[in-house]
Amino acid sequence: MAKKKIIAVVGATGAQGGGLARAILSDPDGDYTARVITRNVDSEKAKELENLGAEVVRADVDDVESLKKAFKGAHAAYCVTFFWAHFSPEKEKAGAAAMAKAAKHAGVEHVIWSTLEDTRKWVPLSDNRMPTLMGSYKVPHFDAKGQADHLFTAAGVPTTFLLTSFYWDNLIYFGMGPKKGPDGKLALTLPMGDKKLPGIAAEDIGKCALGIFKKGGEYIGKTVGIAGEHLTGAQMAAALTKALGQEVRYNDVAPEVYRAFGFPGAEDLGNMFQFKRDFEEYFCGARNLEFSRALNPSLQTFDVYLALNKSRIPLE
Ligand SMILES: NC(=O)c1ccc[n+]([C@@H]2O[C@H](COP(=O)([O-])OP(=O)(O)OC[C@H]3O[C@@H](n4cnc5c(N)ncnc54)[C@H](OP(=O)(O)O)[C@@H]3O)[C@@H](O)[C@H]2O)c1
Repeated sequence: MAKKKIIAVVGATGAQGGGLARAILSDPDGDYTARVITRNVDSEKAKELENLGAEVVRADVDDVESLKKAFKGAHAAYCVTFFWAHFSPEKEKAGAAAMAKAAKHAGVEHVIWSTLEDTRKWVPLSDNRMPTLMGSYKVPHFDAKGQADHLFTAAGVPTTFLLTSFYWDNLIYFGMGPKKGPDGKLALTLPMGDKKLPGIAAEDIGKCALGIFKKGGEYIGKTVGIAGEHLTGAQMAAALTKALGQEVRYNDVAPEVYRAFGFPGAEDLGNMFQFKRDFEEYFCGARNLEFSRALNPSLQTFDVYLALNKSRIPLE
């Protein structure tokens, strides 16, 4: 029997990496084994993955030497950064640089870099349709990832650039679920007008990533995008109404209203939704549904996602 190839997974105790680790571990007859990278090998989540058969190793994206060790002997690596842990685009770029350097050092043959668009290519800093944030960004958590793409190329790492989509799990964990208005009725608030928002079950990102690794070198050097469905706010509200058994309205607000909500990251997210709204054709086009389903035949639609997860969406 041929020796299994190791896929080292950054963020494996989290959403994207966790989906990939579980996808590898639930395919025991496949060609790959999962190496879970975590800062805390003793955490409950790390232990859970170890019990499923993963190798668990300690590393921190802020520490390139730890990454070099964690990537050693790996055939492939899944690389992701953690904007919402620190709100710093500079830290994201430093993390990407460290992963690229470590992957090159370890001779990793295929990296998937979980990236997003540098929106400044569409909305230059001089474009006043949305404010410039943190001095030189329009959508800091997008721009930094897109800006970091070249770090992998420059380091000579064979890389697939994976454009992810809005997690429907944000309705559960990110405070974006339906909220009761003054009239006592539930409303889903998004500044998307009548435009479509590509969304995905976070768990499916890793399954699509495994699909990419299984294709060998086919997508090395390419940018590919994934989504489970492209839905308008009204369509999402209708699906929520059906799943929850109570009316959910779509509360379409202007991006400037969203930016002023005041929660941490509101301006970044207001700009992000405005970018997705104003460049709908490009943004949806870059996240092809058939392609995503070909990589991951069990790709969830929003209705399927809600049937499985509706009880986890907090409703005030
Ligand atoms: N929410 C969305 O809709 C969405 C959509 C597209 C892209 N994204 C992007 O997804 C990224 C986050 O990915 P995620 O949602 O999979 O993250 P997540 O669920 O928050 O998980 C992050 C995991 O990574 C680990 N981690 C955190 N800091 C680390 C560090 N310095 N070194 C090594 N590991 C570290 C943590 O594990 P340990 O504690 O075990 O070390 C944690 O379990 C963000 O950059 C965000 O912009 C989000």
